[in-house]
Amino acid sequence: MNKQKRRAIIAGNWKMNKTPAEAKELLNAVTPLVKDADCEVIACVPFVDLSVALEATAGTNVKIGAENCHWAESGAFTGEISAKMLKAMGIEYVIIGHSERRQYFGETDVTVNKRVRAALDAGLTVILCVGELKEEREQGITAELVALQTKVALGGVSAEELKRIVIAYEPVWAIGTGLTATADQADEVCGIIRNVLADLYGAEAAEATTIQYGGSMNDGNADELLSKEHVDGGLIGGASLVAEKFAAIVKAASK
Ligand code: PGA
Repeated sequence: MNKQKRRAIIAGNWKMNKTPAEAKELLNAVTPLVKDADCEVIACVPFVDLSVALEATAGTNVKIGAENCHWAESGAFTGEISAKMLKAMGIEYVIIGHSERRQYFGETDVTVNKRVRAALDAGLTVILCVGELKEEREQGITAELVALQTKVALGGVSAEELKRIVIAYEPVWAIGTGLTATADQADEVCGIIRNVLADLYGAEAAEATTIQYGGSMNDGNADELLSKEHVDGGLIGGASLVAEKFAAIVKAASK
């Protein structure tokens, strides 16, 4: 992390976990533990938990995000939620392009780009996920692949809008598997992404962009991962569901 240059951000990605009552309970446990954080703290929660999450975090330093949004403002898209709807209810952040969306719900770089555009147009800040599969790492194409994902996702995004983009580098083989990328591997790919941003937007904009690591980040490995120059925070799945573990990661990012 380089806090002189950019914001450190720890975001929880709850995935499909927690009923509204459970969400309230978890956030009530998290908020006092992270109140002195010297980093941004976000909880990205299921759509049905957003209202209760906003209530539970009102007046605290914890911000709330959604886990996806559709690219249209409204219309015949049964089961979808628009960026405009999220913004209207007071949501600030949205995760876009998570590998589980790509893997299980047909998300492509092109639809990721459409969702990014819609989220920015609605005034949201985007946590954009990119990352390679195990086979792609083994083939030695991680750098090319992550660069391509980043470039396509950011098509039509201006330098001014880049200020509302956070990038999460999440190697797919490390998500939910307990297999964390080494701190050097995380740093290397976050650095590659920063170079892509420098090509697209110039060095200054690239240096100012927060790039998180995600994939089995926990209270035991956060310190080392966050000690790296290009790792500016974390997108936390499993460990964000346990208040003490999430708080410990926030503490590591606050140093
Ligand atoms: P994990 O998930 O921390 O459970 O590996 C990270 C993510 O999918 O964002």
